[in-house]
Order: sequence, then structure tokens, then C-alpha cells
Amino acid sequence: MTSTRTRPRVRVTRRLPDAVERVLQDEFDAEVNVADLPFTPEALRAALAEADAVLATVTDRLDAPCFAGDVRARVIANYGVGVNHIDLEAAKAAGVVVTNTPDVLTEDTADLAIALMLATLRRLGEGERELREGRWAGWRPTHLMGRRFTGKTLGIVGLGRIGRAVARRAELGFGMKVLAWSRSKRRDSEAGTGIERVSRLDELLERSDIVSLHCPLVKTTRHLIGAAQLERLGKAGVLINTSRGAVVDEAALVAALEGGRIAGAGLDVYEDEPRVHPGLLDRDDVVLLPHLGSATRESREAMGMKAIDNLRAFFAGVTPPDRVA
Ligand code: DGY
Repeated sequence: MTSTRTRPRVRVTRRLPDAVERVLQDEFDAEVNVADLPFTPEALRAALAEADAVLATVTDRLDAPCFAGDVRARVIANYGVGVNHIDLEAAKAAGVVVTNTPDVLTEDTADLAIALMLATLRRLGEGERELREGRWAGWRPTHLMGRRFTGKTLGIVGLGRIGRAVARRAELGFGMKVLAWSRSKRRDSEAGTGIERVSRLDELLERSDIVSLHCPLVKTTRHLIGAAQLERLGKAGVLINTSRGAVVDEAALVAALEGGRIAGAGLDVYEDEPRVHPGLLDRDDVVLLPHLGSATRESREAMGMKAIDNLRAFFAGVTPPDRVA
């Protein structure tokens, strides 16, 4: 084994699953944030200045000022697929490579999107709250009637890995008609699937019963869904978001729900996490989860191992398999 001094110093910004931390400690000079609280901008700057690598997560706002001044780190291995919290241009300018962890969380995130759809249409949150609070008076024909999920039309925004995994479940498991829109301009049937690509987001919103967001947060997708888009989704429409909160204009969403302009929403992500818009908190027509998309033991361990693979490759002088910048 190499000595501690010659091993790359890796600053790990949150606690990770035990199996992942063990490998990190074995192979690197790894320092884990045992307090497990989000790093402040100062702590992030110090990590970049003192370590050879930073293993970061979505709670680290690695914006341009973090890369100003002394930067010793040569690589940021992000634990997660979304990298909108990292200023990639500033990282590049500072000579810092950025990697992410695609693929390993696809199926679990798709499962959670379907779970949110079912929970929202079938009023599962309301039912559970009623029962736990001792308000359930027993079975009755008109009790908590929701809406059928099977056979509806699902609109998918962003047809990447997770969008496709959701489409597959919807089509094969629930007999749904699946429409998809993404920033690429193609309009055709996806070979071997029943997915119909539409060329305009408005068309997708107008034709779908449920719209599920699976695009990354970039300049062109910030507030992609605002008041006008929610209006097009319509009074019976349901919005599901497991991508990034800021893809939706949260204030516009609250206004649309309050005005009865859409029927409901299932959300796993928020514009300013962990803050949730107060207008959402006491509504029964929304289901709210605390950013759980990839939160299975299987995904979270695999994400850690993928981040480690990227670090290994980088320090072996090879292009990391999941380099994004
Ligand atoms: C992801 O992979 O981007 C998840 O949202 C966790 O960061």
C-alpha cells in the first residue's frame, strides 16, 4: 500500500454510505465531513485550496467565487448526476476537472417519479395523514376518491436516461400513452417504443394528463414551467418534478394551484432546498418529498463507487469515465 503522504488528499463534503467511506479511506487520504452539515462557501473554498480532490454533493454551491484565489484541487467528483450547483466554466478556468455519477441512479429515480404520480393521483398523502391523525371514520363509497392513473397520457420533458426509464414503466406497466419533448428538435416515434416525440412543449402540455420533468437545470431550462405553461397543462393536469426545483417557477406553481388552474403536483425537488415554498406546505393537492430520487442503499452505494472510479482514473492519469467538464 502507498503511504498516506503520497495518496491524494480527498475532501469529502458529506457522510457517505459506510462501504463507500471504507474504500475512500483505504485508497485515498480522505477527510470526511463527519458533522454532515452542508459546507459553507468558506469551507468549500478551503477544501479546494487544501485538497487534491473534492468529493462534492448537490448541497455544495460551488459557484465562481469558490474558484477564485488558490485552488489546489484538480478534480471535483460530484456524488450525483446533476451538476447545476457547480460553475463549470469557473472550474474549467481554474483547471479543475468535474465528474458526475450517471446511470446507477436511473431506475430508482424513475421508480420515485412513478411513485409520486400514483401518490398524487390517488391521494396517498392525504389518506396517510388522515389515518395517522385518528380522523379515519371507516370505509365509505365517496371517501378520498382520486383519479385513475392507468391508461392516462404522460408527457415527459427531457428524454434522457431517467425520462426513458419513466416512459418504459408508464407504457409497459400502466398502459399509458407517452409523449416526450426535449430541447433537441426531433419529432418522430422512438424506435421500438410507443413514445411520440412532439416538437413543441405547449403541445405536450396541452395533450398530457400528467407531465413529468426529467431535464437538467441549465440556463435554458430555468423556470421552463411557469404560469403560461401551467395554464396549458390545464385544470385536470398534474405536474411531477424529480429533476431540479428551479425548472419550475415555484411561485407560479403555487398561484396555479391556488387558482385551480392545475389539479395537483408531486414534487421531490425545490427551488431553494431545503426551504419549501410556504404556499405548498398545507395543500392537500400536492405530494411533497425531501429530494429522495436516488435514495436507495443500492443507488447511494453505487454513486459512491462511481465517484471513486472517477477519482482513481483521474489520479492514474486517465480521463475519468464520467467527466462532464
Ligand atoms: C442527482 O443525482 O443529481 C441527485 O439529485 C442527487 O444530487
